Amino acid sequence: MTNVARTTATITRLGHQGDGVALGPLFAPRTLPDEVVSGVVEGSQLTDIRIETPSEHRIQAPCRHYKSCGGCQLQHASDDFVADWKLSIVKTALAAQGLETKFRPIHTSPARSRRRATLTVRRTKKGAMAGFHGRASGVITPIPDCHLLDPSLIAAIPLAEALAMEGASRKTPLLVTLTTSETGLDVLVRDGKPLDSTLRVTLATLAGQHGVARLTWEDEQVAMEQPPLQAFGSARVCPPPGSFLQATRDGEAALLAAVQEITKGAKRIVDFFAGCGTFSLPLAAQAEIYALEGGRGMIEAMQAGWRQGKGLKKLKAEVRDLFRNPLLPEDLKPFGAFYEAAVIDPPRAGAEAQVAQLAAARTPVIAYVSCNPVTFARDAKTLVAAGYSLNWVQVVDQFRWSAHTELVASFTLAS
Ligand SMILES: C[S@@+](CC[C@H](N)C(=O)[O-])C[C@H]1O[C@@H](n2cnc3c(N)ncnc32)[C@H](O)[C@@H]1O
Repeated sequence: MTNVARTTATITRLGHQGDGVALGPLFAPRTLPDEVVSGVVEGSQLTDIRIETPSEHRIQAPCRHYKSCGGCQLQHASDDFVADWKLSIVKTALAAQGLETKFRPIHTSPARSRRRATLTVRRTKKGAMAGFHGRASGVITPIPDCHLLDPSLIAAIPLAEALAMEGASRKTPLLVTLTTSETGLDVLVRDGKPLDSTLRVTLATLAGQHGVARLTWEDEQVAMEQPPLQAFGSARVCPPPGSFLQATRDGEAALLAAVQEITKGAKRIVDFFAGCGTFSLPLAAQAEIYALEGGRGMIEAMQAGWRQGKGLKKLKAEVRDLFRNPLLPEDLKPFGAFYEAAVIDPPRAGAEAQVAQLAAARTPVIAYVSCNPVTFARDAKTLVAAGYSLNWVQVVDQFRWSAHTELVASFTLAS
C-alpha cells in the first residue's frame, strides 16, 4: 500500500457550514477552533482527519449515528460553544453593516423536538431502508435513535419503508416528508411511482393501518383520515402539504413570545410573509391583522383557521408577491389609520423591497424574524438609516446541531 502524505494544521475558525477552517483555506469537517488536526489534503478539503490536540469544547456526540449520518454538523461541540458561535455569526453580520445591539440569551430547542423531517427511502433486496443521507455521500444512514427528531417521526420509519416497498421504483429513492400535527402525521411523498387505481388503494390502506392523518403522493391527496391540524393560538389550521412551518413547536413558541412582546399594545398589525398564520392568528387575539403571503393555499388555510378560531379580531389576508410587489406606504394607512406594528419573517433572501417601503411608511414598531443573519443585517441597516433603533436581537436555535442560525429582532422608530 502506498504511503499517503499527511499534513498537520491548526483550525482557526468555523466556516458557514460549521466545518473547521485552517489557513489556506483548508476545510476540515467536524473540527473546532484551536484544534491541531492531521489528515490528507484533497483540494481545499482535509480528509481522513485525526484530532491531535482536541479543543476544550469538544464533546462525545450524544447520538450514536453522528459518525456516519449527515443530518447534524455540530454534535462534537458543547452547547455553550455552539451558542457562542451562533451569536458571533449574527454579531459579525451586523458589524459588517456598521451595526451593534444588545443580545438576549439564546433560546435553543431541546433534543428530539424537530416537528418535520424528509427521509430518503430506498428499496433493497429484502425490503426498504429509510434514513438521512450520510456525510457527503449518497448512502442512506438508518437513524432509529436520532436525537433530533420528534419521537413520532422516528416511529414512522416503518411506514416510510412500507411506502417505498409499495410505491418506489427500483432506481429512484422515495422522499418522504413527515410532519407532526395535532391529529396525527401529515405525510408527503415525492419521487414515487405514478399512481394507478391499485396503488391508490394500497397506499390508502397503509395510511389507515399506520394512523396517518393525511397522505399526499406528489400533488394528489391519497388519504385523509383527519385534517392534519396545526394550533396557532385558538385557531386550528390545516396547511397545504409541505408548506412552511417553524422547525420546532418550542422554537415557534419562543419566536411568538418575542413577537408578542415587541408588538404589545398595537391594535393594528401587518404580518409580512405570514405563512399559514403562525404569528397572525395568535396576534389576532389582541389586534386586527393584515396578513400577506405569496402562497395562495397558505392564505386560504389561514382564513379557514381564523373562521373557526375563538374571539379573534378582524383578519385581512392577501396573496401577494412581496419581492415584486411590496406593500406601499399608502396601503399601510387604511381609513387614515396607521398600522401600529409590523411583523416580517421573510425567506433567506430577506425583504429588501418590503423593508424599504416599511421604512418609508414609518411604521413605529417592527418585529423582524430572520433565518439568514446576512440579509437580516442588510435590511437592519436600511431601517437604522431611516431612523429606527435596533433595540435587541435574540437568537432562537431551532436547528440544533446544525450551522443554521435564526433570530428575532426588535426595531422601534426613534421619536
Ligand atoms: C420563513 S417563512 C415564514 C412564514 C410564517 N411567518 C411562519 O412563521 O410560519 C417565509 C414565508 O414567505 C413566503 N414567501 C416566499 N417568497 C415570497 C414572496 N416573494 N412574497 C410573499 N411571500 C413569500 C413563503 O411561502 C413562506 O411562507
